[in-house]
Amino acid sequence: MENLIREISIIGKQDPGKEKIGVGRKLYIESYGCQMNFSDSEIVSSIMQKEGFHPATVFEDADLIFINTCSIREKAETTVRRRLAQFNALKRKKPGLLIGVLGCMAERLKTRLLEEEKIVDLVVGPDAYRDLPKLVRTVDEGQKAVNTFLSREETYADISPVRLNSNGITAFISIMRGCDNMCSFCVVPYTRGRERSRDPYTIVEEASALFHQGYREVTLLGQNVDSYKWSFSENNKARLENQEHGEIYHFSDLLKMVAGIHPGLRIRFSTSHPKDITDEVLHTIKSHENICDYIHLPAQSGNSRILELMNRTYSREWYMERIRAIREILGKDCGISSDWITGFCTETEEEHQDTLSLMESVKFDFSYMFAYSERPGTPAARKLADDVPGKVKKRRLQEIIIAQKKHSLERNLLDVNKYHKVLIEGFSKRSDEHLQGRNAANKVVVFPAEKYKKGQYVNVFVDRCTGGTLLGTVSEVLS
Ligand code: SAH
Ligand code: SF4
Ligand code: F3S
Repeated sequence: MENLIREISIIGKQDPGKEKIGVGRKLYIESYGCQMNFSDSEIVSSIMQKEGFHPATVFEDADLIFINTCSIREKAETTVRRRLAQFNALKRKKPGLLIGVLGCMAERLKTRLLEEEKIVDLVVGPDAYRDLPKLVRTVDEGQKAVNTFLSREETYADISPVRLNSNGITAFISIMRGCDNMCSFCVVPYTRGRERSRDPYTIVEEASALFHQGYREVTLLGQNVDSYKWSFSENNKARLENQEHGEIYHFSDLLKMVAGIHPGLRIRFSTSHPKDITDEVLHTIKSHENICDYIHLPAQSGNSRILELMNRTYSREWYMERIRAIREILGKDCGISSDWITGFCTETEEEHQDTLSLMESVKFDFSYMFAYSERPGTPAARKLADDVPGKVKKRRLQEIIIAQKKHSLERNLLDVNKYHKVLIEGFSKRSDEHLQGRNAANKVVVFPAEKYKKGQYVNVFVDRCTGGTLLGTVSEVLS
């Protein structure tokens, strides 16, 4: 471990030949999209702070604005474009202001925003953030700056993220990047590139550092955490001598390593893929009290023909079998959530009913639900007709939203009149007289603040609920 720390500090050193470009300048970063993007913004902040940039809390105060973007649905891109228009309005009054587009839209549109639309000064894809100081310098010198190179190796393993908008208790750690799955509707493989896993020892290092700073929960992030795979390669020969494990680290190995940091550090992870989640992972969760009993297992559809068109590589029956395994190994209280897409290419009314019936038989605790949005360049856009009318997609979406609301309430009612171990995250959204945290199953629990403090584990007796929240009172402090 000592070797590793030394290596990190060498990589982190400033190049003495170059002047810091951020001295006296303020940076504002705004992030959209998934947790991985928010986590990337923390890496970007770290890189920019080393260059002397100070954070701006409102964009009007900034000398440099970065917008870290998402391309997952058309609406995500429209939101970013609206925001870019506002930033450009400010730029007209403040000509020295620089605007940079980062993340998935940068990768998808490449130079278009810079050269054709002329609404940004720099374009930087998700694997090129180390290059940011150089790119800003290029813009300072009056040139255009673009780097949308996708890497097969980059994991930013040595960069210690600057935690943004943090409650000081829960944090996200990226354990891998990219995706090799090629679901036909999805833009992520094109915007994020090939899947690669991060050195497990740097993950443990980051999680341990967070624990010592007072954090009590980490969520391990990846588009498909179950395919996490890391081995000591030729490039890592120095480390090879220090290795404690076998050659290959799978997700269950990583979970065990992170869970071993301290019993008081809770572990969550997202996203699990139905085709890859193994019983071994489920048993690892079961055998570690501090790995939360909660699995986000996006189904997307309840119909096997649609799943095949989506190239999800599992059927409805396979998915149901995985749910059975989760319930059998982790019990009925394990939280399970999903993502759904309504109105995917050629989806019939009956096939939509299959989604509703799958939801009915599993009764998910929570779901993220979307109407299908065709993304240019994806296999679905190239090969399948986006032929379900917008109105029908939306009506189907409404139907699954209604079903999910009913199931969330039903599932929450099962939690009433029971004790729940809750990690306190801070004040409730509605009042400073109440605190909130989550139980292992990821449900928000609200209770009177009394003398309790964030970061504590408490036992809460839940006596009522809504569809979104469990409510109760603390019976004892657990730590
Ligand atoms: N890696 C995760 C998903 C990441 S994207 C997984 O495989 O489950 C998050 C969610 O956005 C997806 O689960 C899907 O439900 C939704 N999504 C992705 N592409 C979409 C599209 N083109 N239209 C609508 N929803 C989409
Ligand atoms: Fe997209 Fe599929 Fe990869 Fe998820 S697993 S990011 S949906 S391609
Ligand atoms: Fe969006 Fe990119 Fe994440 S497309 S969902 S920000 S990986």
